[in-house]
Amino acid sequence: MSALTTLRLQDFRSYAALELALDERPVVLFGANGAGKTNILEAISFLAPGRGMRRVPLEAPVRQDCDGGAWAVHAVLVRDDEEPFSLGTGLDPVKRTRRVRIDGQNAKAGALADLIRLVWLTPAQDRLFAGPRGARLRFFDRLCLSLHPEHGRNATRYERAMRDRQRLLDEGAADPSWLEACERQMAATGAAIMGARADTIAHLQDEINARRDSAFPQADLGLEALYEDAPAADDDQLIEALAQVFATSRARDTAAGRALCGPHRANLQVMWRAKAMPAALSSTGEQKALLIGLTLAHARAVAASKDTPAPLVLLDEACAHLDPDRRAALIDEVCAMAGQGWLTGTDRALFDAFGDRAQFFDVQNGTAKPV
Ligand SMILES: Nc1ncnc2c1ncn2[C@@H]1O[C@H](COP(=O)(O)OP(=O)(O)O)[C@@H](O)[C@H]1O
Ligand SMILES: [Mg+2]
Repeated sequence: MSALTTLRLQDFRSYAALELALDERPVVLFGANGAGKTNILEAISFLAPGRGMRRVPLEAPVRQDCDGGAWAVHAVLVRDDEEPFSLGTGLDPVKRTRRVRIDGQNAKAGALADLIRLVWLTPAQDRLFAGPRGARLRFFDRLCLSLHPEHGRNATRYERAMRDRQRLLDEGAADPSWLEACERQMAATGAAIMGARADTIAHLQDEINARRDSAFPQADLGLEALYEDAPAADDDQLIEALAQVFATSRARDTAAGRALCGPHRANLQVMWRAKAMPAALSSTGEQKALLIGLTLAHARAVAASKDTPAPLVLLDEACAHLDPDRRAALIDEVCAMAGQGWLTGTDRALFDAFGDRAQFFDVQNGTAKPV
């Protein structure tokens, strides 16, 4: 179990000061467009390392016209029978860098990941299946990261080696041993990236398959092959195969000005199982249902992993286009989750199926009143 029992915002977007007193049940935020619902979820998303669910610079959430020029979010997190944790983060008003405090002590942002996991779904992801490959891969890599914390570091190293290699190729007549060193690094980190991705797919697929009766459509997940012919039986073979791919594509990559093959070009494929149809061809509402199913499977996979705390699940406008049956099913799933769910919507009636299983807040004009 993981839940926030207090959430405090200071000079965060539309909020000068907001304090929510909560219990462990799911939280429903309802209110008109622009009322400030997503802002609250975004504030929570800063309780994890990174740039929040809107992926913005650290200065962006500072409330317009505020005096201090800095924002802060504070939360009390309860997990199972542990003592509650006090988490704080924000923009340091002087240094203009991220400030993190855990139980009153300064900490690194990375330390938050040991205490709290977050899974989120936002309307910006609605075009995930039909949209560009790169955005889909970024989305999937974030799922990998919550099961494999080393995934981010490997991705950074891979990209750095790829940039170094490209610079050597662009300059021409590079020392082959330099090129080879970059390609070795790309191959080693690339193999680790592919391993984490394959493991994540397997976990997600297990979670999806375990719910054959789910109201959300079952998806079959895959990663499109990165290059022809990769018969890798183990890690060493995979590293060799990748190094070989990079070595043989030097001329092409020089001409193209970028590396055309490799794990950075992977494509997450999602099929609607019952229809044997790519998700991208499904209707808008169907794609949303698939995406919610995937998000819930991910939340269960993270909760099931013994190394990670149960995630808080932030579902922004997830109910909006669901028919009443699916909405009720989503609400049941949220109630059954080990981590607290946070849902937003314009209309309180969308959430009637919660009954008294959730706490409701009416959001307007920089306030959120319990109802
Ligand atoms: N830095 C900021 N300072 C003050 N207000 C902001 C800031 N950023 C966004 N807003 C306001 O927040 C509101 C949007 O809030 P949001 O949470 O996205 O609404 P919704 O309830 O529809 O999810 C808008 O009215 C916007 O003008
Ligand atoms: Mg919103």
